[in-house]
Amino acid sequence: MKVKQALAALGGAFGGGALAGDARGCDPGTAGWVRSLAASCPDPTRRPASLERWRRLLEGFRARFGDRDVLLARAPGRVNLIGEHTDYNGLPVLPLAVDRDIAAVFAPRADARVAVESLQPGFTARAFALERPIPPYPTGDWGNYVKAGVQGMLDSPAMQRRGGPAAAAALQAPAGFDALLDGDIPQAAGLSSSSALVVLSALVFLAANGIGVDRGDGAPGGPAVPGLQLAEWLARAEHYVGTQGGGMDQAISLLGRSGHALKIDFFPLRITPVPLPAGCVFVVADSTVRAAKTEGALDRYNRRAIECRLAAAVLARLMSVPPAAQVRRLGDLVRVLRTGAPAGAPAAELLHEAPYTLEEIARLLGSSPQETAERFCRRRDGSVHPPPPEGFKLRPRTRHVLEEGRRVEEALAALQGGDLAAAGLLMDRSHESCRDLYEISCPELDRLVEVARAAGALGARLTGAGFGGCTISLVREGDVPAFTEGVGREYYRDFLGLSAAAAAGRIFPCRAVDGAAVVALAPGGAGA
Ligand code: GLA
Repeated sequence: MKVKQALAALGGAFGGGALAGDARGCDPGTAGWVRSLAASCPDPTRRPASLERWRRLLEGFRARFGDRDVLLARAPGRVNLIGEHTDYNGLPVLPLAVDRDIAAVFAPRADARVAVESLQPGFTARAFALERPIPPYPTGDWGNYVKAGVQGMLDSPAMQRRGGPAAAAALQAPAGFDALLDGDIPQAAGLSSSSALVVLSALVFLAANGIGVDRGDGAPGGPAVPGLQLAEWLARAEHYVGTQGGGMDQAISLLGRSGHALKIDFFPLRITPVPLPAGCVFVVADSTVRAAKTEGALDRYNRRAIECRLAAAVLARLMSVPPAAQVRRLGDLVRVLRTGAPAGAPAAELLHEAPYTLEEIARLLGSSPQETAERFCRRRDGSVHPPPPEGFKLRPRTRHVLEEGRRVEEALAALQGGDLAAAGLLMDRSHESCRDLYEISCPELDRLVEVARAAGALGARLTGAGFGGCTISLVREGDVPAFTEGVGREYYRDFLGLSAAAAAGRIFPCRAVDGAAVVALAPGGAGA
């Protein structure tokens, strides 16, 4: 459908009942669209703004790229309830996709070029060719997340196989796309705005080449890649930007379920939807400390991943685990030793508390310091991370990871059993561990967590990579107004000294929504 028609349909479709998410009375061409967009914005008070955003996107697209046949896409951010820095260690996480997303209006191009623009200030237009490989922009450039999503799909021969011969053929001579984006996920706030952009770019690229996503809920018709598989490729795809992240953010942005958190297990990726318990709300609060994954936090994040890989290798040696058992991650140790997490933590006892030097680790591994650094400490650009001046803190890092993995299992049981107090306590313990053992908190996050508990939260913790960003608090539904007021007063006004205007929008209850999707405005409604 052309932009002009889409604008007319949008006006008609979202009139009256549709704003309340009611698609009855819509023509069949827009009913799927109305349902999908309303589901991505479950808070009715935010729907007029959502509608207005789609209108600006459609008009903006037409002004920049012409009145073409367009598709719509969105990819949500996420908040992690518990299980921090466990994913790349092969241990589970428990996130939900939130009702903040990046949205796109796009159209395929006849050539192999990509042009992306954004309505958000500071995101200058980017254009590139579908080369193999696509050379990255300088570190920190937002266009690299678009390139990451596209390159990840081009790279994956497995994807072309799993998508069937039609997908393979389409990607032999791939088409590019023109897209206009807009997002409302707070940036550098630990809510995965960057992974949402990777996921969105990949879906847009696939759709531009006629490839959909098979979510197991009825074939989308035409070539499609299985959702779980795609989530795994997307996790690898994001390594393009230099982070050695796990797969949580991409998996939840792609596979999230309305009203549910997902317990996600890794290697291989598996998901278990967990209904959110009635009577409580998860409230996000932004510490206002930026946690951009591409700035200083990138090295700090990657250093944690390196420490964990080193710890797994050292522990495998100390425990005489045979090389055939292939222990690469701390999670593998849990598996190999069949200890389950409760006995996993004592593994950390084999390590000494004092930080390790590279020389000592190399000795333990029967290797040279140089070989050890090259094997475990490489950046994507080939350079080697210098050892941290304070040494590698193998024991506290191991304790955090193994204990946090266990807390995820316990939190799952608590949520399934409706034991909110127990779930809250586990969130508190998780924050303490992130602060003291993994050292990814900061004074502002610690203060915000303290204030949240004093304001009535059953539990509170930092969420995401850490080093800034947001906290997540579990709050009884009836306590939300008092909680919001207390945090506003004690943290934003008294601790940070912010005006009410500057604090506005920094604290919000989050609602779990469905994962990323491409939506077509055509008879038949929703697409991939
Ligand atoms: C970032 C990474 C994730 C995960 C979290 C910490 O968001 O992208 O893979 O490691 O940090 O839990």
